[in-house]
Parts: sequence; structure tokens; C-alpha cells
Amino acid sequence: MIEINLDGQQVSVPEGSMVMHAAEAAAGTYIPHFCYHKKLSIAANCRMCLVDVEKAPKPMPACATPVTNGMIVRTRSEKAIKAQQSVMEFLLINHPLDCPICDRGGECQLQDLAVGYGGSSSRYEEEKRVVLHKDVGPLISMEEMSRCIHCTRCVRFGQKSPA
Ligand code: FES
Repeated sequence: MIEINLDGQQVSVPEGSMVMHAAEAAAGTYIPHFCYHKKLSIAANCRMCLVDVEKAPKPMPACATPVTNGMIVRTRSEKAIKAQQSVMEFLLINHPLDCPICDRGGECQLQDLAVGYGGSSSRYEEEKRVVLHKDVGPLISMEEMSRCIHCTRCVRFGQKSPA
């Protein structure tokens, strides 16, 4: 087992675990994330889970950073929160901001995290990207591709799992 300090709490996780697994094992620690899912491969492409790791020069993605003995991780430090807020701003640049009329309004992880980590207004004034829908079969809906934040969960869900 590897022991790390997560927001001041000692957490033990099996060797090979990621910081995100340690957060799941620790009581009351939530690291915001989109692309991470415990049953899917790790893509680490949304960057929403950035945390402050002591001695690391820049914020690290919790879902793809392996734990090491004695590691000190802060998920709510000024550095971590600033990184998470910056990622949220980036993700919302091209995302429509019309939650009240969206079918997913009220049950949307992006909306929930935008409330916690997003700003009250956007600095982006340019035209937003529009992506036309595609028909890729009955399992994946691509009706609202302008809302996609490229977490690739749907892609990984559809991939054959490693043997
Ligand atoms: S959840 Fe870690 S990069 Fe997406």
C-alpha cells in the first residue's frame, strides 16, 4: 500500500493507483472531473481534475497521476482551484450557455461543475463553434454535438476492453 497526504488527510491506496483513486478512498474529497470514469480506460483529456501536487511545477491531472509514497496533494489550494476554474472557462468557450432550454438542464455534470467552478459571465465574445449532428447508430446520440466537450467517454465505452 502507498500512503499519501490528501488535503491534510492520510490516505492508503494500492500501488499503481492514481490520485483520483485516493480521493475516492478518502472521506469527503471530491475532485471535479469529466473524462474520468472508474470503469473506463484513462484518457486524461478534459483536465478538469487538475490538482496541486507538492514539488510539481504545474498542476497535475488527478486521474492520470500515479501515487507515490509520501506524496502531498492539495485539491482545494489556490493553485488547484485556479487551474480548475481556468479549465472550466476553456470548456465553456464553445459550449452553448442555454441551460434553461437544454434537454439535459438539471441533470448535467457540466452544468453542475460550471456552478461550482465557472464564472458568472464569459469573456469569450467570438462566434461559437457549431458542429452538425451525425448518425452513428442507436447506441450513441450525436444530435447535440455542439455541446460535446470531447471527454471521449462515449468512444472509450464503445471500445473493446483490453483482454
Ligand atoms: S478527469 Fe482527469 S483529465 Fe479528465
